[in-house]
Amino acid sequence: MLTPCDSAFQKTLARELPDGTLVTPSPGYLEEPRGRWRGQAGAVALPRSTEEVAGILRACHCARVPVVPYGGGTGLVGGQVCSDGVVPLVLSLERMRAIRAVFPSENVLIAEAGAILVDVQKAAADVGRYFPLSLASEGSARIGGLLGCNAGGVNVIRYGNARDLVLGLEAVLPDGRIWHGLKRLRKDNTGYDLRHLLIGSEGTLGVITAASLRLAPQPAAQGAALMVVPDPDAALRLLALAQAQLGDGISAFELISGMGLQFLAETMPQVRQPFATPPDWMVLIDLGLPEGLVPESALERLFAEAAEAGIVNDGVIAASLGQRAEFWAMREAIPEANRHIGSILSHDISLPLSEIPAFIAQAGPELARINDYRINCFGHLGDGNLHYNVFPMAGGSRADHAAEQDAIKTCVHDLVHSLGGSVSAEHGIGRLKTADLVKYGDPVKLAAMRAIKEALDPHGIMNPGAVLA
Ligand code: LAC
Ligand code: ZN
Repeated sequence: MLTPCDSAFQKTLARELPDGTLVTPSPGYLEEPRGRWRGQAGAVALPRSTEEVAGILRACHCARVPVVPYGGGTGLVGGQVCSDGVVPLVLSLERMRAIRAVFPSENVLIAEAGAILVDVQKAAADVGRYFPLSLASEGSARIGGLLGCNAGGVNVIRYGNARDLVLGLEAVLPDGRIWHGLKRLRKDNTGYDLRHLLIGSEGTLGVITAASLRLAPQPAAQGAALMVVPDPDAALRLLALAQAQLGDGISAFELISGMGLQFLAETMPQVRQPFATPPDWMVLIDLGLPEGLVPESALERLFAEAAEAGIVNDGVIAASLGQRAEFWAMREAIPEANRHIGSILSHDISLPLSEIPAFIAQAGPELARINDYRINCFGHLGDGNLHYNVFPMAGGSRADHAAEQDAIKTCVHDLVHSLGGSVSAEHGIGRLKTADLVKYGDPVKLAAMRAIKEALDPHGIMNPGAVLA
């Protein structure tokens, strides 16, 4: 049984903490980007140190008060907003944003959980290194939240998911004990890997307070191209060709659909688009190459060979870093254009690469049996990760289709599951997909997850309702 974060608890907790650590929740902590949930909170705790985080969790553990860990608030599955049940304490890491240390010769940087992603990228760049995690919300997303939900983003094809960039963690377990695990080791084969349990646990097993992060060398030269392809199958053949020619030089390989470009033209006409008529399908290829290789030449060679093979119809190679930034601005604006149009439902799915054409070919006609929709299918094709978002026809509204949401989701997720895919590729489970986790998850894995949760958080105070409902 949980106890609410009521004024009696707040008074007791406030006495143990420096003045100003516990504040009244401002609306920002109770909202999330897509406006699908409205959170609740008795108070917001703003600790300045790991010891304070530990004190807060100890108190919550003893009093059985639920805790919702909070980073930048940019998550897309409601992991950061507790909208029902016992009123929690929101624990925001925003005051713990220090870059504690940088070890350029080791390619390691230690950041606190509240550090904003762009600040970590800048701190790496300051010593001539590169921190490759990159996504549209990098100006507000914080390291703790990014690791808590094992964020993906646009550079996964080359550098892996958030979890692949972590060498060690410092974290507070639900009972308030501090785990000092800020190792800087590439090899540390000493039993169960607590790091990988906490990464992706979405705040249900503890609170990450700092991380030792893996840096990469800065690419000597960067470049990008937009290439128009006849269909998703051709896009995959282009990926294979690009990998054969450039291997690890490919930093991103993004699929963009004509529908996304139309939404962009309609709702954000200020965003520059290179093609007068939006092509049905194109890919954004981003390169980061070592000394001696010229991205423009590499992309020209790729385009020539792909054109010869009939897998590209048209293309633009960025003539400058400015134009490359323009391509990315267009790509990153697509989710915002989606929000202006108002999706009925969005899906973050992954598939074995070779099943992607079959998925796209089948999903549209199957959904059309429910009703007529517009579909914007885009995302990180190189990772097999699609954002498959379903919209009303022009003039319609999301509300008209509220009753169809379950059928749409079941249609998409059943198909994904039957093709060996995942119903959450990079956004996590949060509060959005707890039922899907049970429906499509392996029962043995689920039982192990519940046992771990019970062992580390016996009172169930950590982010109740997220991941395991
Ligand atoms: C993106 C977000 C939606 O890829 O994951 O733009
Ligand atoms: Zn994405």
